[in-house]
Amino acid sequence: MTATIISGKEVAEKILTNDLRKKVENLQSKNITPTLVVILVGDLGASASYVRQKEKFASKAGINSEVRKFNDQISEEEILKEIEKINNDKNIHGVIVQLPLPDHISITKVLNSIHPSKDVDGFTPTNVGKLFLGEETLVSCTPKGIMQMLASINLDLKGKNVTVIGRSNIVGKPVSILCQQQHATVTMCHSRTRDIPSKLSDADVIIVAVGKPKFVTGDQVPSGCIVIDVGIHSIDGKLCGDVDFDSVSQKASAITPVPGGVGPMTVCSLIENTIIAAERLSYSE
Ligand code: GUN
Repeated sequence: MTATIISGKEVAEKILTNDLRKKVENLQSKNITPTLVVILVGDLGASASYVRQKEKFASKAGINSEVRKFNDQISEEEILKEIEKINNDKNIHGVIVQLPLPDHISITKVLNSIHPSKDVDGFTPTNVGKLFLGEETLVSCTPKGIMQMLASINLDLKGKNVTVIGRSNIVGKPVSILCQQQHATVTMCHSRTRDIPSKLSDADVIIVAVGKPKFVTGDQVPSGCIVIDVGIHSIDGKLCGDVDFDSVSQKASAITPVPGGVGPMTVCSLIENTIIAAERLSYSE
């Protein structure tokens, strides 16, 4: 079997053209331009590159984005003050703090200080709690993008078996909740799981977010499964994911590539969330 490639780049472009630009035009007709602030601390190359992608997509959607850069000596207190300023600024609709942060800064404290209505990463306890309860909220970007990719191939998750590898707060946990809300049966695997391949054998969908290059191989997955690869690694100057694409794509019916898969969808969801935040803040005025 040769797998269909689910191009996140193409799905994101479609959402941009069919949905986001129209919403932005509608807001602009009311003199509102959705505005995103990205807080970037330190000079990690990967973070800077992700932030550039976010700025580029924001500009394509017609929204404002501003990157506020700080050196890695900045104190926690100064970041908290910056976020407070942003929380109180009516012209800013969304804010994210690019992770990771230097060790002397508490990620929990920083994320908890963001006002939930501007938390376009969907990382605050309020928004995570609402997601857990199935209430309307700003859904974190990578899980949201994964669900949009599954929708793009018209997959009905009802009664399907989904195996998620990785239990992070950013991807594994929230995507498992979203799949359950669509009536899938979800199996969670993580670093202490015994015999991961046995948990893949009856999976209809496999979502891999473990942060280990080529962790899942073709011999471990059932024929016809759908594979979502969240990882990105640079090995000998070449990018690869958490999935061994060459062997898994021989067995899967559909698979996301790296690069060009989940990454562009995460960025698209961030911009979509900023637009949603702007819409909601404009209704509440
Ligand atoms: N670092 C890696 N992924 C993410 C993300 O989705 N949001 C933020 N803020 N930082 C990240």
